[in-house]
Amino acid sequence: MLEHGNLLYFPPAPGGAGFPIPPEVIAALTGTTQDARAIHKNIAYKPNKDAVSGLVDKSQAGVTRDAMREYSKRALAFMAGILPEYAAQWKVDYASFRSIEERGRKLPLTKRNDLLHVDAFPTRPVFGDMILRCFTNVSPSQQREWLTSDPFPALAEREARNAGLDRYAALPGPDSAKRAAVRVLHGMGLPVVDRSPYDAFMLHFHDWMKANAEYQKNCSKYRFDLPPGSTWLVFTDVVPHAVLGGRLAMEQTVIVSRESLGDRALAPASILERMAGKGLAA
Ligand SMILES: [Fe+2]
Repeated sequence: MLEHGNLLYFPPAPGGAGFPIPPEVIAALTGTTQDARAIHKNIAYKPNKDAVSGLVDKSQAGVTRDAMREYSKRALAFMAGILPEYAAQWKVDYASFRSIEERGRKLPLTKRNDLLHVDAFPTRPVFGDMILRCFTNVSPSQQREWLTSDPFPALAEREARNAGLDRYAALPGPDSAKRAAVRVLHGMGLPVVDRSPYDAFMLHFHDWMKANAEYQKNCSKYRFDLPPGSTWLVFTDVVPHAVLGGRLAMEQTVIVSRESLGDRALAPASILERMAGKGLAA
């Protein structure tokens, strides 16, 4: 179901949403303020370092970290409970807190949340694996307004070649001298990233979609008004999505191995590889 590009939705329930979040965690989050500079789109929590970034007021770091750690722990346990096949192999990525009202938010084009896009991470290539995210609307009063469009099979068929898939498919493979050099520099601590052709395309596709007025205007649109306390799971590299309004949402990301999917053929990397007639994700 998730792999086909559906949102898995858990309505608010007494005591919490799909999983309970203690009131003191909600209270700590709603008291948190976010750095409005464009460099920090959200407040991030890195479970592997147990650290937060993106705060205006650094004195909030301890309280915010504790609250985000608790959300992260509960979201991961909830997801693992309903998706054990994925959990056996997934990589835990960051959690984030989106505290700023999305309606009317001023961001550079490629960072705008109100334009439909599929996700790709500049600093964390996935090599054909997939981005699964668990969102919870932690606002006590405000719904979160989402827009989605037709999922990756239809999106790729319509737009991947227009966006330059063939050019990206011709990028060097993992054995090339250029990529080997990037890996050496990365190993020395330099801020360079070795990307597969798939990762390079998806990063480009994210920006291309946001900049494409024709796609934004004419693609199919499905609206979701997600009430306070609700939780939803979605592969955000499969489902084009945009956020039109709302504030105070939590999110936990995991990177799901392509090998653990129920149907590997549904992975965006598999779809693009079929179109390109070659492997793209190594
Ligand atoms: Fe996104």
